[in-house]
Amino acid sequence: MKKIINYLGFALLTALLFVGCKKENQSEKAQSTQMENIQVSDYGVTAKGDSIKKYTLTNKNGMKVEVINFGGIITSLTAPDKDGKYEDVVLGFTKPEGYFNGNPYYFGALIGRFGNRIANAKFILDGKTYDIDKNDGPNSLHGGKEGFHTKIWTIEPIGNAEAPSLKLTYVSNDGEEGYPGKLTTTVVYTLTKDNALEIAYEATTDKTTVVNLTQHSYFNLSGKFTQPITDHELQLDADQFLPVNGTLIPTGERRNVAGTPFDFKTPKLIGKDINSDDEQVKLGKGFDHNWILNGTGLRKIATVYHSGTGRVMEVSTDQPGVQFYSGNFLDGKFDTKTGGKNEHRTGFCLETQHFPDSPNETSFPTVVLKPGEKFQSKTIYKFSVKK
Ligand code: BGC
Repeated sequence: MKKIINYLGFALLTALLFVGCKKENQSEKAQSTQMENIQVSDYGVTAKGDSIKKYTLTNKNGMKVEVINFGGIITSLTAPDKDGKYEDVVLGFTKPEGYFNGNPYYFGALIGRFGNRIANAKFILDGKTYDIDKNDGPNSLHGGKEGFHTKIWTIEPIGNAEAPSLKLTYVSNDGEEGYPGKLTTTVVYTLTKDNALEIAYEATTDKTTVVNLTQHSYFNLSGKFTQPITDHELQLDADQFLPVNGTLIPTGERRNVAGTPFDFKTPKLIGKDINSDDEQVKLGKGFDHNWILNGTGLRKIATVYHSGTGRVMEVSTDQPGVQFYSGNFLDGKFDTKTGGKNEHRTGFCLETQHFPDSPNETSFPTVVLKPGEKFQSKTIYKFSVKK
């Protein structure tokens, strides 16, 4: 009997050792594969002397996403066309200095603390008035001049063999750009095996504050950055949008899109109504408005299709709004990555977010974040082909 027990004990020990070794091998394998699908290289040096790195995520299909630790900026993102050809479909600068010295268009950047505009660059929270950076006429835009798009983020490569991920972290001190509270933000970019870029945001604060995080990539699914995006077809799952005043601040009205140029409920060319005489189109110099998305929770809210290349981009989010911006302020001042200049309307943004000026508009969903709470949000840009 004793012999049998000894024998069983020995067998159990051997089995445990075997499983343990196997686990170790697997995790070693995961690490080396992770290195294979995330490449790190030197990108450039800022005027302040910070060395910036570029992280290239690659999936099994050959799709690539390039991210730098300056502004969490996506400098390149490739997507297949109907012939299986992967091309870069996001606007960007040809030289690092374009991003480092102001990035006037916010190309590819992470936006915070507050995406979009806050009227008159001020808001009241718990009875106290906060004056924030005025960088857009009378208003504050995209977190102020030194918003998150100008900050150096800590990047940690994570993820696995199938889906490389980067975890970006930035700690914004109490009072930065006028906002209250020390805000810790993490953003995880994941490139999935089915050609989607998932963006997961989290933020916590040590004092009551406001937060509205988004991503400011401009897309041109043609892969040719001098071609206007007016030939792209857009479908937006939104019955209403937010009309704006002359400085692009929502008036508070929620207007039905039916019968207006803002109706993208069924697919429509971006160019179809972009030069309409509609007062709101004129105020936006094209489309530069927030649509109130139908439904709640993570759901598909937009589809963009470019018939020339067959490229399709589907956007899903859990946010209440999306700023559809048709690149009206692109002004041909910079070279594009495919030659020529960044001309008017050669890129569009679908910035998922809370409504603009929410801190001042009590009828909008709240953007207040309190100590002990966690802001969490997810947006997915998925690329495919329609033949
Ligand atoms: C805004 C535009 C602004 C652009 C800056 C967009 O989110 O809606 O009005 O010009 O960002 O590049």
